[in-house]
Amino acid sequence: MPVPLLDVNAQNLPLETKLVEAFSRVLSSGQFIMGPDVLAFEQECSAMLRVKHSIACSSGTDALVMALMALGLGAGDEVILPTFTFFATAGSVARVGATPVFVDVCPICFNIDAEKVAAKITPRTKAIMPVHLFGQSADMDAIQALADEHQLWMIEDCAQAIGARYKGNPCGSIGHYGAYSFFPSKNLGGFGDGGLLVTNDDTLAEKARMMRNHGMQPKYFHSVVGGNFRMDTLQAALLRVKLEPYNTYTRGRQNNAAYYSEHLAQIPGIVIADPAHCQCAARQIEWLAETSAKIVLPVPYAHNDHIWNQYTLRVIGEGQRDALKAHLQEKGIGCEVYYPLTMDQQECFASLPAASRSDCEVAHRLATEVLSIPIYAELAPAQLDEVIAAIKSFL
Ligand SMILES: Cc1ncc(COP(=O)(O)O)c(C=O)c1O
Repeated sequence: MPVPLLDVNAQNLPLETKLVEAFSRVLSSGQFIMGPDVLAFEQECSAMLRVKHSIACSSGTDALVMALMALGLGAGDEVILPTFTFFATAGSVARVGATPVFVDVCPICFNIDAEKVAAKITPRTKAIMPVHLFGQSADMDAIQALADEHQLWMIEDCAQAIGARYKGNPCGSIGHYGAYSFFPSKNLGGFGDGGLLVTNDDTLAEKARMMRNHGMQPKYFHSVVGGNFRMDTLQAALLRVKLEPYNTYTRGRQNNAAYYSEHLAQIPGIVIADPAHCQCAARQIEWLAETSAKIVLPVPYAHNDHIWNQYTLRVIGEGQRDALKAHLQEKGIGCEVYYPLTMDQQECFASLPAASRSDCEVAHRLATEVLSIPIYAELAPAQLDEVIAAIKSFL
């Protein structure tokens, strides 16, 4: 039985009646730009994410760009971010003319290594952008302490972590801004591109709203230059339908992750990552050598509510990740490498100062080891077993 990496129809088609109703409502309203569904969607997101302001927009990338523009960041400013992330985190910084400064990541939670941030802070550093990669929060206490000490803006990239929590607090509600994506493969997957920016600060909310609409306030008066980052009314109306059952999708992913971890960990050569020393890369690499594991399973920290946008294995040994990928694909199991290159390794950033790109060895190693396997909520038990059997047959 083939198991795709993601099956959006399995989630969307059961909602067809409600989705068509939402479409018809917007169609007959004739309000396709900033209609009432956008406001209602924003209010529903604010309640779910426990924030004061939600600003729906055109994509997760645009949410990041909007935040950076609203904070007035640009040429001469440095922004710190993890080197192991999707390109949009770094690309948005470069697009506003600021300089991305890349920091290595933790080999256990895959997120920015807070212990390595301080060495990258300079007088030009203006902001830090932690990414909650694969659905698990970064080490927010440590990052918050650094941001406070150095008076940095904090923009949380929550594109993969809508509904995830750190010590009970929703990711995105901790920094000055939180940015989310509704790209169809995200946990709250839309019907095209869409994004959201949240904040608890009234002034920052006002600035972001202006940026979303050409810096216009009032109509046809522009004191700053913004863009067109608006979310379509149709997108908001359709997303509202999916917001309702959203928690059941998260539970489905969490149950699947628990099932994988329980059953895969019983296979000789497979171990669950040791969360004891999250940020200590040296200790983790030592631990890995001791276990002589061939595959390391991801682990949620006790203080985190992980929403499992991805279930990402580390396949140890040169060439082994690509060999497992080929093996799974041959058996009809979808899998993907998120991400084969780190940001400091990207050609478009080759001309950045060496200091922006230094000391990223853990991330370089992860880029050769990671492999994500199917985790979407609608996977049938037999499909999970199929994936487990396929991995077992590789070892
Ligand atoms: C970590 C991260 N940041 C930003 C984005 C950008 O989101 P979007 O694709 O909606 O522009 C994504 C998603 O693709 C992402 O995974």
